[in-house]
Amino acid sequence: MEMDLMKTIPTSADGMSRVDGRAKVTGAAKYSAEHKLPGMVYAVLVMSTITKGTIASIESKAAEKAPGVLAVLSHLNAPKVPGHQKAKNPAKPEVKSGPLRVFNDNKILYNGHPVAMVVADTFERAQYGASLVKVTYDKEAHQTKPPAELKGKAPWGGKDDIRGTEDAWQSAPVKLEAEYIIPTEVHNPMELHAIIARWDAPDKLTVWDKTQGAIATRDDIAKAFNLKKEDVQVNSKFVGGAFGSALQVWPHEIAAVLGAKVVKHPVKLVLTRPDMFTSVGYRPYTWQKIGIGATADGKLVGITHEATGQTSTYEDFAEGPIGTSKGLYECPNVTTRYRLISLDVNTPTWMRGPGEATGAFALESALDELSYQLKMDPIDLRMKNYAKVDPENKKEYSSKYLDEAYQMGAKQIGWSVRKAEPGTLKENGWLVGYGMAGGMFGAYRDTATVRAIFNADGTLVLQTAVSDIGPGTGTAAVSIAAEQLGIAPEKIKFEMGDSSLPYAPMQGGSSITSTVGSAVHDACVVMKEKFQQLMGNGGTDKLNYVKILNDKNLPSLEVLTKSQGGPNNQKYSMQSWSVHFVRVLVHPATGVVKINKVACVADSGHIVSPKTARSQIVGGAIGGIGMALMEEGVIDHRYGRYVNNNLADYHVPVNADIPQIDAIFVNKPDPYINPIGAKGMGEIALIGMSAAVANAVYNATGKRVRDLPITPDKLI
Ligand code: MOS
Repeated sequence: MEMDLMKTIPTSADGMSRVDGRAKVTGAAKYSAEHKLPGMVYAVLVMSTITKGTIASIESKAAEKAPGVLAVLSHLNAPKVPGHQKAKNPAKPEVKSGPLRVFNDNKILYNGHPVAMVVADTFERAQYGASLVKVTYDKEAHQTKPPAELKGKAPWGGKDDIRGTEDAWQSAPVKLEAEYIIPTEVHNPMELHAIIARWDAPDKLTVWDKTQGAIATRDDIAKAFNLKKEDVQVNSKFVGGAFGSALQVWPHEIAAVLGAKVVKHPVKLVLTRPDMFTSVGYRPYTWQKIGIGATADGKLVGITHEATGQTSTYEDFAEGPIGTSKGLYECPNVTTRYRLISLDVNTPTWMRGPGEATGAFALESALDELSYQLKMDPIDLRMKNYAKVDPENKKEYSSKYLDEAYQMGAKQIGWSVRKAEPGTLKENGWLVGYGMAGGMFGAYRDTATVRAIFNADGTLVLQTAVSDIGPGTGTAAVSIAAEQLGIAPEKIKFEMGDSSLPYAPMQGGSSITSTVGSAVHDACVVMKEKFQQLMGNGGTDKLNYVKILNDKNLPSLEVLTKSQGGPNNQKYSMQSWSVHFVRVLVHPATGVVKINKVACVADSGHIVSPKTARSQIVGGAIGGIGMALMEEGVIDHRYGRYVNNNLADYHVPVNADIPQIDAIFVNKPDPYINPIGAKGMGEIALIGMSAAVANAVYNATGKRVRDLPITPDKLI
């Protein structure tokens, strides 16, 4: 059943509701795993139960004979993935900076490494078959626990980055040095990662796949299987959350495509929730140390930010925890050192806010600590060191209203009630604390192409390949087109999530409203011009699109518009900014932390779609609360295996944990980034939030927790 977008798009005071909201809440929206194809069969992966070593034997006879089983694949019999053989030296099994090559050899690189796959005519029979596969191993000693002495390697062949004098904070009159740790966190979107792979011909493939980029996934799969890009079709119309976990093609996707090749049927593979912990990346454990120093009146003298994040033994994943310290404040001397340590784990990946969220926890906690040493209000300290130009490259900002954001947030939370002395404010037997912290993230604009078709019946169809992992890409696009062309949103259909549509990049880095929204805008501008030309009377009459088409006897008018940034995108430093204010209650006897009130302010430029924008900020803030208080992937290092790989034991906030969250927007357009004036907000919604909570907990209790999550045991 195709959903009918035209049916209902309710609007309210805060703007248009989601164009796909009805389809999603009624179940009409089909996610990747929900497609049913004729002849479709089911694959279940068998994962390694050891952490490091080699496969000694695989006993698959019982599985092969089990009812309904079509194939048992492993490194012993799986066809080689041609792109994986060609791209790297086949003699070197563990390649750095390459994806895990599934079923390629007998090496086990982490607990949960796929070792076999059973394909059967039903899911249950595939599961049963998988239970019959017996694997023996030659175990080797593993290391999954970050060592006490972190001796990492610099990624990107990189050097330490020193602006001004190295480690200048040490000579400042007021200074501190502290270590901060964030544990591994797992994306855990509601929708499990899933793929259906169907070979239409020996060199032609169609997949229904959970991905943040239909075209990027098409290109990666084409490369792996030596296919022409145009011979791979990727469908990903609805994605039930991803947070970064679907920014790349993972081993299970390659495995499903291989399986479909072998059994000559469409193959569906859905990861289990436990599989999600070891198959699609995670936010890496990261140790950080901040040295920070200031003059007695609070002018920053120096920041030194060291960070070491974990990666796998077969692939380097590096992100930007230290970037925040380079750019958030005006500071003449900034030293950053970033390292990776390789452990016997699967490779981490981007997770919402990515490294910047990790870095902001450390920097914004340290700034708070400094404010107490200086006896200065944390907002005043930030304003004292407010960067008016980009401290890294001295470029002017395209827009920055963080100062206004501080004021708006302080007012909303009631900051004036905060006591500078920790532990002095109480309410009904609970300690009360106020905290604030902020974040920044690059505001990007990438290239996208939109096809717009205006039909003589008054409807408009917009097409681009972009995937939507939840922020409301279609809703923003429809809002922009409705405003540009002056037509009702109900008349506009946004088609997406399909690699055969015009090019759009991956939905990542908070860039899609800026990128695709601008392409929609530009397509509408071009369309208006075309209508103007068609009408041809000097353009004084109001454009009546339907009438023009009818007069010219045309069924429709189509434009295809490529849209990208211009010289301004290089000329200015473009950043989105956020500040989070939190009021917490901490129980003095139990250490329980209740988030009592939250006000988040975003400087995201012009707000295109107020309702979905609010959801973005609220969702990111909740992610930050989870990061602060709950989330932690726990490995039993004796076995190298997760012990909480399910949603009962891996805690995320639920409704009862979340109070009213006020999402406030400065809502001033950025004049340079793009024609719609919109900057990103997905990442800044989370960046800084965990520090705001930690800072509020300190204000309530006088206890500074520097290793997340802030569980009750750390407060009593
Ligand atoms: Mo985002 S971490 O770029 O999905």
